[in-house]
Amino acid sequence: MQDAITQLLDEVRARAGRLATRDDAEDFRIQYLARKGRIATLFEDMKALPPAERPVAGKLLNALRVEAEGIHAAAVASIGIAGAAHAAHLDLTLPGRAMPVGHQHIVTKTIDEIKTIFKAMGFSVATGPEIETDWYNFQALNFPPDHPARDMQDTFFIDDMRLLRTHTTPVQIRVMEQRTPPIRIIMPGRVFRNEVISARSHVQFHQVDGLFCDAHVTFADLKGTLVAFAKRYYGSALKYRFRPSFFPFTEPSAEMDITCYLCAGKGCRVCKQSGWLEILGCGMVDPNVFRAVGYDPDAVSGYAFGIGIERTAMLRHGVDDIRLLFENDLRVNRQFI
Ligand code: DAH
Repeated sequence: MQDAITQLLDEVRARAGRLATRDDAEDFRIQYLARKGRIATLFEDMKALPPAERPVAGKLLNALRVEAEGIHAAAVASIGIAGAAHAAHLDLTLPGRAMPVGHQHIVTKTIDEIKTIFKAMGFSVATGPEIETDWYNFQALNFPPDHPARDMQDTFFIDDMRLLRTHTTPVQIRVMEQRTPPIRIIMPGRVFRNEVISARSHVQFHQVDGLFCDAHVTFADLKGTLVAFAKRYYGSALKYRFRPSFFPFTEPSAEMDITCYLCAGKGCRVCKQSGWLEILGCGMVDPNVFRAVGYDPDAVSGYAFGIGIERTAMLRHGVDDIRLLFENDLRVNRQFI
């Protein structure tokens, strides 16, 4: 038995230097180390020895197995990648698999672009909750209970106290409550309305509100800032106009139009033949809003504005159905990298 072990040990050592490929190493493993390999067979044979001889044989056999395992492990490690290349099924000259790279959604990108333009003009960013109370969404913004202006914004109510905000304008109230003028902020966020989903309207969309309040703020300040924004965002060649409008929280109120990007003012399908596109609502903060946050309307004045993000992105990129911005169809999203 001892002779057989010594012989096998010599054989194993002799093969150690000849394990050049993965196949060699695998052969070696099958022949010597596998469950039915030659070392295992010797362990089986050992059971037939007289009990007194078994410990010595067992020790030698264990030493043989440890050495063979070491030789095999060292061979596998040194063959490494070179060995893998040797295997017929592996072609290391194939190009790698590219990982798909993500990018921002057009809505996020539009918000970021608007933020960048206003930040350059000294505005900072403020945010507020999507679940609001009637006070912040309506009353503090000069929509008294039962006022018909509430119908302008079909609301999702959660219960008597809470609702999903219909605009980002309540953030103006939250910030003014916390701080004293001068305040120069923009407020991006998601808003919700109980509307029938169609190409033109959706139950959720995004807005960016803006607010500047200080002593002696005038409508000329509002115009200067919003014209600067529109020229940066839509191009410096545009023509614009301010039209009188109505919002409960501003007096006077206006809407800003720019010449249609498609027909340059001649009249087409997109601008409904008018040559103009509405891009935002704005106005001078109503004294009642200042009163609601404890400011003195004789000492503080301000302007505010609100921009619809989806509308802005659609105008700028010629998208004619708002639903495309929420369906996350990659064939659409990939066009806005
Ligand atoms: N909150 C208005 C809306 O959702 C948009 C708006 C208009 C916001 C004028 C303003 C503003 O801050 O001054 O229709």
